[in-house]
Amino acid sequence: MANLTTNFIGIKSPNPFWLASAPPTDKEVNVRRAFEAGWGGVVWKTLGAEGPPVVNVNGPRYGAIWGADRRLLGLNNIELITDRPLEVNLREIKAVKRDYKDRAMIISLMVPCDEDSWRDILGHLEDTEADGVELNFGCPHGMAERGMGGAVGQVPEYIEMVTRWCKKHTRMPVIVKLTPNITDIRKPAEAAKRGGADAVSLINTINSITSVNLDSFAPEPTIDGKGTHGGYCGPAVKPIALNMVAEIARSRETHGLPISGIGGVTTWRDAAEFMALGAGNVQVCTAAMTYGFKIVQEMISGLSEYMDEKGMTSTSELVGRAVPNVTDWQFLNLNYVTKAHISQDDCIKCGRCYAACEDTSHQAIAMSADRTFTVKDEECVACNLCVNVCPVENCITMVELPKGAIDERTGRPVSDYANWTTHPNNPTATAAE
Ligand SMILES: Cc1cc2nc3c(=O)[nH]c(=O)nc-3n(C[C@H](O)[C@H](O)[C@H](O)COP(=O)(O)O)c2cc1C
Ligand code: SF4
Ligand code: SF4
Repeated sequence: MANLTTNFIGIKSPNPFWLASAPPTDKEVNVRRAFEAGWGGVVWKTLGAEGPPVVNVNGPRYGAIWGADRRLLGLNNIELITDRPLEVNLREIKAVKRDYKDRAMIISLMVPCDEDSWRDILGHLEDTEADGVELNFGCPHGMAERGMGGAVGQVPEYIEMVTRWCKKHTRMPVIVKLTPNITDIRKPAEAAKRGGADAVSLINTINSITSVNLDSFAPEPTIDGKGTHGGYCGPAVKPIALNMVAEIARSRETHGLPISGIGGVTTWRDAAEFMALGAGNVQVCTAAMTYGFKIVQEMISGLSEYMDEKGMTSTSELVGRAVPNVTDWQFLNLNYVTKAHISQDDCIKCGRCYAACEDTSHQAIAMSADRTFTVKDEECVACNLCVNVCPVENCITMVELPKGAIDERTGRPVSDYANWTTHPNNPTATAAE
């Protein structure tokens, strides 16, 4: 069986599945249960500075988006960092770590943006025997208005400065957790690297309003008639997170910087995708909040079966495998030609592909009087919209034309690789290869 043990910036864990800093990791009793269920590590719910803890709202703190089967697709929250006293959290962290030495214990932190505050909080952690710290520069609500969290994460200079302070004041590895609420994720990652970060983790939640109540005319969740923007997470954010992870993994400036991938990980497959795009491990929040701690068992068995199938013996063989295949649009092969093909055996004659292609694509699907749907190769541009709207999996497939075959749409034979950089229509084209 594949070995799922990971060594992420020197922090060992029996598998690459960590619980992200959030409600599942905010108290001893839960973290113990999570470890019993099999999680490889946890990032403890973000701790704040010493003194009176933060105060949360006493009304609903979540908004949600569901699929047609009411499966949770996106979750929005207006929760703050831990509202439990610092000394209680520290005592509990120490007690759990003492009993689960083989698991990763990371402490998430968010304190005001001055060196004394960071030195003080880091000093408090020395005794816990935790394995590392994660700097929460991400939460977009509540704390950001107080100059912390996302407010720091949106200014690369602040990220660099705080990371440098932390590296100065702790012996533990420092993971910088990035906010996705920024235009170019490479900039904060570069800043973290300049500041000496051992790794980055991403994404934290995306700023959002999930819904508006059309009777009370207030955003949801609604607190006494008012709502506010919150942080969005869950399966819906995975594509955004994957892209950001890939951007950091393939950028020359940050290539090789260890990444902990977060955002919508629900199955082993999600985790494998993050890892293939360069994440050394993954963190999970919404899936655990939706399905409970035991979901990790399917992640573990699924990932190890997949790795066995692929002949991979360690996770390091998976990490980054897809990075060389992420490129910019201009380098895609413009001479790669496919055509949609409809399997008449599988088709249930619903007509969705016809409506989609006829109304919004290239009028390339014919419908006969008896509702037989066929693709007109001479019109099909291979956009694959029909594949995506068809309710029957694999009923429509994209079939590659072999080299030399005539594309009936253009009348030209399929030729060798060539991209936009050398295309005759490109006014800035370089000499053809
Ligand atoms: C209710 C809730 C509270 C959260 N609190 C924190 C927090 O205290 N610190 C932090 O770094 N991230 C926090 N997060 C963000 C998660 O750690 C994670 O980055 C995000 O939810 C994306 O992962 P997911 O799609 O698996 O949920 C919170 C998320 C939720 C849903
Ligand atoms: S691939 Fe696009 S153009 Fe071709 S049949 Fe499907 S929807 Fe129409
Ligand atoms: S969408 Fe799929 S099932 Fe429906 S008519 Fe088209 S090919 Fe058939």
